[in-house]
Amino acid sequence: MTAQIISGREIARQIREELKQEIAELKEKHNLIPGLATVLVGEDPASQVYVGQKEKTSHNLGIYSERYDLPADTSEEKLLVLIDKLNKDPKIHGILVQLPLPKHINETRILYALDPKKDVDGFHPVNVGKLMIGEPDYLPCTPHGIQQLLVRSGIKTEGAEVVIVGRSNIVGKPIANILLQKKEGANATVTVCHTRTKDISFHTKRADILIVAAGKPKAITADMVKEGVVVIDVGVNRIGKTESGKAILCGDVDFDAVKEKAKAITPVPGGVGPMTITMLMLNTIRAAKLAAGLA
Ligand code: GUN
Repeated sequence: MTAQIISGREIARQIREELKQEIAELKEKHNLIPGLATVLVGEDPASQVYVGQKEKTSHNLGIYSERYDLPADTSEEKLLVLIDKLNKDPKIHGILVQLPLPKHINETRILYALDPKKDVDGFHPVNVGKLMIGEPDYLPCTPHGIQQLLVRSGIKTEGAEVVIVGRSNIVGKPIANILLQKKEGANATVTVCHTRTKDISFHTKRADILIVAAGKPKAITADMVKEGVVVIDVGVNRIGKTESGKAILCGDVDFDAVKEKAKAITPVPGGVGPMTITMLMLNTIRAAKLAAGLA
């Protein structure tokens, strides 16, 4: 079987074109410019790349953006003061605090401090709860991007056996909730596997759609999947550097071997990654519309 390669780059580009139109209309008809603040604490190189991409994409689409780069030893109190200021700033509709935060900062306390209406990551407990009951304001970006990859590639989720490997608050748990919803592009039967699952292969082999966010390079091998599976690989592992110093990336799936059995598969890079940033832009527009009473 030759697998369809699901290009997140291409699908993200399509969605960004749609968003660009929407932003232009908001400006023209309502004089409304969506605004996003990104907050990065510390110098983690991967986080710096992500935040840089978020800023660049905002700029390209016509979203107003502010970037806050704080030193690694920033106190929790100081970060809370910044969040309070951004919560009150009418130019800012969305606030993104890049995770993970340095160890001395209590991540939960920071997430609770965000105004849920500006929580464009969908990580505040109010937004987690709203998703859980099927009334979300914001879908978390990576899981929403995964759902869009499936829907826009014509992959039917209704009644499908979806197996998720990984139970993080950022990917595993929210994608399980999203695909469980009684809505179009969802209605799946969902299994979540994790580090204490007895026999991961038993579950992955049953999957019609396999979503992997395990954080382990090539954790899923060809013997662990069935013929005709659809594979979404959320992993981004830095496994070395090129001579010019560029990071060499691989996913959590052994792409070359698994693609021989799969019906469709996402590559790394160029799969889920570009979707995450695009869905953040979508949430920022939604935040601006909600604030202006337009949604
Ligand atoms: N770190 C890894 N993924 C994410 C994300 O989607 N949002 C934030 N804020 N931090 C992250």
